[in-house]
Amino acid sequence: MKLVSILGSPRKKGVTSQIARAFSTKAEEQGAQIIEYHLNTLDFKGCQGCNACKSKLDHCALKDGLTPVLEDLKTADIALFATPVYYWDVTGQFKCFMDRTWSLVKPDYQTNPDPVRLDRGKKAVLITSQGDVADKHRDVTQKYTGFLQMYGYDTHTIRACEMGMDTDERIGPFLDLAREKARELIVQ
Ligand SMILES: Cc1cc2nc3c(=O)[nH]c(=O)nc-3n(C[C@H](O)[C@H](O)[C@H](O)COP(=O)(O)O)c2cc1C
Repeated sequence: MKLVSILGSPRKKGVTSQIARAFSTKAEEQGAQIIEYHLNTLDFKGCQGCNACKSKLDHCALKDGLTPVLEDLKTADIALFATPVYYWDVTGQFKCFMDRTWSLVKPDYQTNPDPVRLDRGKKAVLITSQGDVADKHRDVTQKYTGFLQMYGYDTHTIRACEMGMDTDERIGPFLDLAREKARELIVQ
């Protein structure tokens, strides 16, 4: 199995990256091939709205740091998306990435029973972390799993709540949860 891990926090060793890595490390132990992208270190633009991906191309017209990420999503069996909540939403880096996944949607998506340029049967794990309590920001998870389901993914989520910027012992259960999720989802 091929796993592409997309890290949306600017903090390489922050809460979301640690939970994502607990998942991918366990996945690797289970035999998965891991490709990891830290969005903050990539040189890329947000969607330009040029609509080339809906008219003359079957991919994004931009050639930049996101080009291999978008291509790897096509060949990966499982995709891991990780972002902290920033201002009641995902990080800016993650939002720019999501906008570019518009290039995965086919021009006739409204009528086509196969509306995206991804094979069926893929799994996605969305990991979010936030400072606030669990009752807050459920809509962020709902919104982005909604997009992923529209792309045909079988979605799984991990929400790490009440996480400060300084990692403490409260992260432990979420690391365990991520490892457990990898054991469940990685089948060779
Ligand atoms: C710019 C900024 C905006 C934030 N906005 C929110 C927010 O709206 N709601 C919330 O619960 N936490 C918010 N947080 C806290 C982070 O989501 C939380 O500390 C998270 O665990 C950090 O993840 P990281 O360690 O992976 O960077 C914000 C943090 C920053 C730096």
